[in-house]
Amino acid sequence: MTSTRIIIDTDPGVDDALTILLALASPEIELEALTTTQGNVTIENATRNALSVLELAGAANIPVARGSSLPLVQPLRASGLVHGITGLGRSNLPEPKNKPLAPHAIDFLIERFLAEPGELSLFAIGPLTNLALAIRKEPRFAKSVRELVIMGGAIREGGNVTPLAEFNIYVDPHAAHIVFHSGIPIILIPLDVTHKCILNQAHIDRLARIESPISRFIADAVADYLKISLEWGQAGCALHDPLTLATIIAPDLLTLRECAVDVDISTGVSMGKTFADFTNRAGISANMKVAMEVRGGEFIDLFLQRMENLSRAVV
Ligand code: BDR
Ligand code: CA
Repeated sequence: MTSTRIIIDTDPGVDDALTILLALASPEIELEALTTTQGNVTIENATRNALSVLELAGAANIPVARGSSLPLVQPLRASGLVHGITGLGRSNLPEPKNKPLAPHAIDFLIERFLAEPGELSLFAIGPLTNLALAIRKEPRFAKSVRELVIMGGAIREGGNVTPLAEFNIYVDPHAAHIVFHSGIPIILIPLDVTHKCILNQAHIDRLARIESPISRFIADAVADYLKISLEWGQAGCALHDPLTLATIIAPDLLTLRECAVDVDISTGVSMGKTFADFTNRAGISANMKVAMEVRGGEFIDLFLQRMENLSRAVV
C-alpha cells in the first residue's frame, strides 16, 4: 500500500490530539510533520501539546514547527472552556523532551512544500493563520500543495462559537478568506458532518478495556469535553478534527459537493460565517469540495478500532 504523505497544521486541542493519534495509527498515512498555531490554546501550549502527544505515542522523531501566536486581525480567543487550560483536558502528560524546530512554521511549510511540489497534502485543523501567511509570503506555495483538507466552517448547520460561525474560521476569518481564494485544491469538513461523528462514554469505556497510556490519555483528555457536550444537549462530543483524515482512510464515508464557498469578513453578526453557492446562481467557479454527508457511526467505529490497535502497540 502506498501511503499519503501529510503535514498537519494544528492547535492541540483535545480533538487535535486525537487526530495526531489517528494519523499515527493509520497505515494509509505517513505523518511527516506538525506545524502549530494559536487557536484552542496559546501557541506555547499548542506547541508543547503537539510535542507531548507525539512522545506519548512513541513518535518523537516527527518534527514540530511552531507557528503564529496571533490571528491576522482578530484578537486571541484561546479559552479553557472546551479543551481545558492546558488544551488536553484532564490529562497530565509530562513536559516534552523535544523542542520545536528552529524555523517558524510558515518558513518550514514553504520550504517543505516547495522542495517537492504536488507531493504532500496539508491538513489544517486549527485557525488558518499559518497557511494564509505562507500563501502571502511565497507566491509559489499555493501551487505546491497537492491537497488541503480543512476542518472548519458551518454551511447549513449553525455555528459553535456564534449562532452562525464555526470556531476555526471565526478565530481568523481573514486568514480563511485568503486560503479559500488561494487556488489550492481544498476539501472542507464543516460542522454539518463533524456533528454526526459523536464519541460517547460507552466508546471511552470500550477503549478503557485495554490498559495502555493511549487509552488512559484519551479518557482523561476527553472527560471534560464530553461533560460539557452533554450539558449542551449533545449525545457526546464531536470528533471534528479526526474526521478530516477520513478523506484518506475512509473516503467512501463522505459525500462531497463541489461548489463556491466564501466567508464573511465583515464585523457584523455573521463574521466568520461560511456560505456555499450550491445552485451556482452567482456563476462563481467552484473553489472547493465540501463534505455535506457522512456515515458517522461507521467513522466512529473505525476511529475506535484504530485507537484500540494503537493502545495495544503502546504499553
Ligand atoms: C474546531 O474547533 C476546535 O475547538 C476544535 O479543535 C476543532 O478544530 C471545531 O469547531
Ligand atoms: Ca483544532
